[in-house]
Amino acid sequence: MKIKACIFDLDGVIVDTAKYHYLAWKRLADDLGINFTEKDNERLKGVSRMASLEIILEIGNMVPDEAEKVELTSLKNSWYVNYINKMTPEEILPGSLKFIMELKKANISVAIGSASRNTTLILERVKIKNLFDAVADGNNVHKAKPDPEVFLTAAGMLGIAPENCVVFEDAEAGVKAALNAGMRCVGIGSAEILSKAHLVIRGLYEMNIEKLRAFEKKFGYE
Ligand code: G6P
Ligand code: MG
Repeated sequence: MKIKACIFDLDGVIVDTAKYHYLAWKRLADDLGINFTEKDNERLKGVSRMASLEIILEIGNMVPDEAEKVELTSLKNSWYVNYINKMTPEEILPGSLKFIMELKKANISVAIGSASRNTTLILERVKIKNLFDAVADGNNVHKAKPDPEVFLTAAGMLGIAPENCVVFEDAEAGVKAALNAGMRCVGIGSAEILSKAHLVIRGLYEMNIEKLRAFEKKFGYE
């Protein structure tokens, strides 16, 4: 078995949008009189927009009806979009582009697997949309990570079997989603939080094609 595709989560792996999510959620929480901290924001990583709101409402002990919840998520999203509209290619996380270019040179497909419904906008703003062979995101996928749907959809779009795919993920739910998809997974971030991943690195700047080949050898590929 060979690695034929690398599937990347977007937020926290290729770009750092967590700070913009935080600023937008913080503004909403302040408006609602809820004390929402940066530590609370960690719980929102990899979590869908509505589930994120529900976590914040739970912190504030608030239970609005469904229509109000939809209104609150669209308000937050409008503020978030204002931030990401101003993103530039300088915000691509270190090492990401270099590694993706190495993969392309080695004929390994590259795809995005993200819960974000703003994926296309972000990829356009940082000018890397054309680099990816497939994009599975919150618009063509409906089951949230740890469900494997987003990664299976990306693999399906590429026409590559799950066992030939490696996922790069910064969220615990995302690592679980990759494993549930029958894929190998490289965690990006804390080895403690991402302990289920086959390998954990601090950022894509720690990856290169040689390390990927070593990974291929070590984790059940011939
Ligand atoms: C990613 C982020 C989450 C975010 C989700 C939905 O998974 O890690 O923090 O809530 O996408 O993003 P969206 O842009 O659709 O609100
Ligand atoms: Mg992420």
